[in-house]
Amino acid sequence: MDKLLVHGGTSLAGAINISGSKNASLPILAAALLTDQQVIIERVPDVSDTNYMLQILSALGCEVERYSGTVKITAANIHPEAPYEIVRKMRASICVMGPLVARLGRASVSIPGGCVIGDRPIDLHLKGLQAIGAHIDTEGGNILIEAKDGLKGREVDLRGRHGPTVLGTDNLMMAAVLTEGTTIIESAACEPEVVDLADFLNSMGAKIEGAGTRRITIEGVTSLGGTHHTVIPDRIEAGTFMVAGAMSSESGITLNRVRQDQLVGATEKLIEAGHLVNFNDDGSSVTVSPGDTPQGCSITTAPHPGFPTDMQAQFTAMFATTPGISVIEDTIFPQRFMHCAELTRMGADINVDNGSAVVHGVKELSPAPVMASDLRASAALVLAGLRAKGTTEINRLYHIDRGYEMIDEKLLQLGAKVERMRGSA
Ligand code: EPZ
Repeated sequence: MDKLLVHGGTSLAGAINISGSKNASLPILAAALLTDQQVIIERVPDVSDTNYMLQILSALGCEVERYSGTVKITAANIHPEAPYEIVRKMRASICVMGPLVARLGRASVSIPGGCVIGDRPIDLHLKGLQAIGAHIDTEGGNILIEAKDGLKGREVDLRGRHGPTVLGTDNLMMAAVLTEGTTIIESAACEPEVVDLADFLNSMGAKIEGAGTRRITIEGVTSLGGTHHTVIPDRIEAGTFMVAGAMSSESGITLNRVRQDQLVGATEKLIEAGHLVNFNDDGSSVTVSPGDTPQGCSITTAPHPGFPTDMQAQFTAMFATTPGISVIEDTIFPQRFMHCAELTRMGADINVDNGSAVVHGVKELSPAPVMASDLRASAALVLAGLRAKGTTEINRLYHIDRGYEMIDEKLLQLGAKVERMRGSA
């Protein structure tokens, strides 16, 4: 297993380009299953999660070509069984269900495992597909979905006890585009990645309105064609590096290929915490630098357009050395605090209780060997390591490689002193 040595305490400077969004790419890659025509998708980040999705698509019978960030997929002769050995590695595999049942009338996908950020139920995914006529069975750890009597458009409310579901909205939207009649998704997720998927589907000939609002209307069509699409920037990668600019640079760092309208939550909280955030005229580039009097503040995650749960671990790392008290509440994944124990090993003063973390800012963190646990927790540890003077060793780097494209190269470009140690196992 690879590990990352972060020789912290140096000030970051310079600029990097932000990659295409992992969380937009995954459902868009799955949506290629909806047509037998070739689709070309640009700016797909080369991370293990997108690699897993391409392996699943190949296993389903798709022709897949990939060179640098461009992916070409033709799903001409596909079958409906997604292989367990790949699906178990990545929860987002679940979003092949909707396209498969719409295109082939059936799908067999293994039930995704849980993960450290909390249990990851799929009841809302199944509720949506059942509402338009799919029959659901489970057999040997697989979910079997069949549209025995075809699919029929219906109105469905997808709200769960933690609010809307991003991939659940995606799954139903992808099934509905080839479903006779009109499907209306109430309490739909509004994340930019859902909008990017809707744009991709509409460019294939789908008829989707209202993506980005809580009510999405899909008029079914009989078939979809090929398309050429560029994925939106990764707002969570951008937000992660914005925090790096606030906590580990003197003169600030600049992130190119971003979208200001997708970074409102992180921007507002960085400014509230006393830091400087400046976008260029068209909002495609942002420079973040530390303010003179940073102060702790409170964060409560919420479905978009609220503060993203995928950004709370990174802000917790920043608040660890921010004067004052900060309170972080995650209403979407109340157990998503694995990073706090590791940050505490670096000298942070954090108390986690019942879905919230209370952080008392300390003067400095001290380097230590730490263990990555999930994608965003690992990013928080890298941020802490950049701040702590000395060498922080981050083990189980594969967690970061799931969603941050070439993170070591990007950090080196910003002047960070990092070394990736290739592991044997
Ligand atoms: C997406 O996961 C993202 N992943 C997650 O990012 C992100 O944290 C999450 O949305 C919330 O924004 C991708 O897009 C690939 P949900 P998703 O369904 O769609 C509950 C990262 O770090 N729920 O929106 O799987 C669920 O338990 C990853 O990049 C049900 O109860 O999340 C959670 O509490 C981590 N039943 C809430 O809804 C369901 O059937 C939101 O989950 C589905 C979800």
